[in-house]
Amino acid sequence: MTVGGDLQLVPTARSRILRWAGGGHSPLTVLELGAHCGYSTVRIARSLPLGARLYSIEMDQRNAAIAEKVIRLAGFDDDTVELIVNPSDEVIPQLRSDYNLERLDFVFMDHWKKCYLPDLQMLEGSGLLGKGSIILADNVLFPGAPKFLRYIRKSGLYEWKIHRATLEYSKGIRDGMAELVYQGIK
Ligand SMILES: C[S@@+](CC[C@H](N)C(=O)[O-])C[C@H]1O[C@@H](n2cnc3c(N)ncnc32)[C@H](O)[C@@H]1O
Repeated sequence: MTVGGDLQLVPTARSRILRWAGGGHSPLTVLELGAHCGYSTVRIARSLPLGARLYSIEMDQRNAAIAEKVIRLAGFDDDTVELIVNPSDEVIPQLRSDYNLERLDFVFMDHWKKCYLPDLQMLEGSGLLGKGSIILADNVLFPGAPKFLRYIRKSGLYEWKIHRATLEYSKGIRDGMAELVYQGIK
């Protein structure tokens, strides 16, 4: 479904997973990679417990300008949702020093698929993932993130599964969302 040209709405199944992951596991510090126009940002923010904080990274300035409006119109101030306008590989290494983060409870990856693996490894290196941190990565089967999937299979750092679905807006194309639970270094 498309509203106003480029504000895409994620479909219900995906939204349900987001709501489940956000609500059921009560994350306190959340990172979103790829806000686009803020739809998933607002869906996640709505599912967070009081006092939780969501950092959303979007590198495209035009998308970010729309996302900022959507997030604020939805009623979230920047104590709850902070939109960071820069590429993820520049922001992730600064999350500790510039944003005082100590741990990420939940990470939603929905940016360019080629960034999934390097960004996951950067998150591991940052020390911000703790035992039980959840990473949800969208569209891992189509367009697909094969290197990312190969890595999580081999690394031994995660318990993981794929939630299978069809691609949003295209019923025939099979897709999936990977859910990873960080187990830490054994
Ligand atoms: C599929 S859209 C995100 C959709 C959004 N999560 C939603 O469901 O409403 C991908 C977005 O990620 C942004 N993006 C891609 N690679 C990025 C990166 N490395 N760092 C920050 N933003 C990135 C793009 O500019 C684009 O707006």
